[in-house]
Amino acid sequence: MTVAEHRVEADEMRRVLGHFATGVTIVAGFDDGVPIGFACQSFTSVSLDPPLVLFCPAHTSRTWPRIQASGSFSVNVLAADQMELAKRFATSGGDKFSGLDWHATSWGPSVDGVLATVHCDIEQVHAAGDHDVVIGHVRELVTQRADGPLLFFKGQFGISWD
Ligand SMILES: Cc1cc2nc3c(=O)[nH]c(=O)nc-3n(C[C@H](O)[C@H](O)[C@H](O)COP(=O)(O)O)c2cc1C
Repeated sequence: MTVAEHRVEADEMRRVLGHFATGVTIVAGFDDGVPIGFACQSFTSVSLDPPLVLFCPAHTSRTWPRIQASGSFSVNVLAADQMELAKRFATSGGDKFSGLDWHATSWGPSVDGVLATVHCDIEQVHAAGDHDVVIGHVRELVTQRADGPLLFFKGQFGISWD
């Protein structure tokens, strides 16, 4: 066991918090009808009644301010065989939806072939350090596939035990 009592640096935050495995999503929205989005692991459910979820976009995200301006978003939960999609949406700039099968909803783009999609209106946005905490009010839920999830653990996709 290693106990740290010192100023916590970003690298250490990344390394140690990486031990907490998560799924991977694409948080997506529209900017003037144009589909936009970014890969996001900081997604979780918050409340059942009312139905609330959250995610945390970095202040450096180029996509998030454009989604925020629209007032709503869609969270697309990725399957184990969608790592390339996650990598595409983890890159800033360009048309990330080019060649992708998706359809429009009242909240944001729903990517075809993901595990599930959660459609939300933005309820609250709290600044927290170098990220925002975004609370979404869930308006519609869709499941598409019953396959395994794409996981992110210790900075890698899938499970690595090293
Ligand atoms: C697995 C994975 C999870 C990520 N989770 C987040 C996240 O929770 N919040 C965030 O702001 N960026 C997250 N990112 C990084 C963004 O996807 C990346 O910075 C992206 O380029 C942002 O695109 P944008 O500038 O178009 O918004 C994650 C990246 C990966 C690969």
